[in-house]
Amino acid sequence: MEETESARSVPSGAGMPPRRRARSARNKTIDLSIEDGQQYLARCLTLSGSAALPDVIDRTISGDCLEVLPLLPRGSVDLLICDPPYNQSRSFAGKRFSSKSHSGYAEYTEKWLCAALPLLKRTGSVYVCCDWKSGIDIVPVLERHLTIRNRITWQREKGRGAMRNWKSGMEDIWFATLSDSYTFNVDAVKVRRRVLAPYRENGQPKDWEETEEGRFRNTFPSNFWSDISVPYWSMPENTAHPTQKPEKLLAKLILASSNPGDLVLDPFLGSGSTSVTAKKLGRHFIGIEESAQYCVWAEKRLEMAESDRSIQGYRDGVFWDRNTSHEQLTAGKNAGSGEPPEA
Ligand SMILES: C[S@@+](CC[C@H](N)C(=O)[O-])C[C@H]1O[C@@H](n2cnc3c(N)ncnc32)[C@H](O)[C@@H]1O
Repeated sequence: MEETESARSVPSGAGMPPRRRARSARNKTIDLSIEDGQQYLARCLTLSGSAALPDVIDRTISGDCLEVLPLLPRGSVDLLICDPPYNQSRSFAGKRFSSKSHSGYAEYTEKWLCAALPLLKRTGSVYVCCDWKSGIDIVPVLERHLTIRNRITWQREKGRGAMRNWKSGMEDIWFATLSDSYTFNVDAVKVRRRVLAPYRENGQPKDWEETEEGRFRNTFPSNFWSDISVPYWSMPENTAHPTQKPEKLLAKLILASSNPGDLVLDPFLGSGSTSVTAKKLGRHFIGIEESAQYCVWAEKRLEMAESDRSIQGYRDGVFWDRNTSHEQLTAGKNAGSGEPPEA
């Protein structure tokens, strides 16, 4: 893209000191410093005025989404995926997000949601990630502006134990739409599960397949997701971002609620997971992230996606259940695919 008056590449030079750590050769974590990732930062945009779609499509915008969103073209986005800081005190690349009162977090949610919604098409869908505590405040705000369709619960096995409370082992992703006319591609998000009770009718498998890899059934996706791991050090998608979402999770949202060529917007891009997954699945994307450090990682991952479109746990058009690496590998070999299976 050519630079325009209002959309400029991020200047090089801004930065934090490079970090050096000895680590295992199998550790694939992306934690490139800003200094070492200048070429990636230079691919990001900063906006100083209204931007046209061709200026910002398939780009990472470095900046505060509350300032950037009003500069983007209205009515152009098919799918909005939002993973804002949850209502807990936490640092993102040195910038602290402080836990707020319920009304304070609701006000914060109202602000960014109202900045993002004008960009959505009438047929658009919205997903908002949260934990149980943030959800208490997010849901009434969503209800005021959108039709809530569902709550997806992601069982995430990683999490801190607590001495005087239950350990948090799940997160929610609220699904909402602007109107009753919206995209939902149910066949694109089926889950391939091992058949435990292989029922036969007239000697033939009923609703399941006998394959060289075992007995499987492609099932309708429910709103309880127990088949997705938090990215970890040996996965190529892993970065040092403290709250990175898995590509497998984003792939489900994107495949269900958009079509190839559609535009996906993430105003809290973090390490780039939404943009990277959208790119791998043939969608356009715009990501906004205020930390230059995370912008570097997002751009590095977007570059990696040029040569590797695989998404761990998704292959042959289905999402594979946990602990099926062996079967995925065999299926991949039989299909002549060299994509890696889910670990
Ligand atoms: C929960 S994380 C998102 C993680 C992301 N889904 C991923 O997979 O890496 C929230 C992100 O929003 C960024 N952020 C917080 N406030 C922001 C703002 N006003 N504008 C843009 N980014 C913001 C933080 O730096 C952080 O990376």
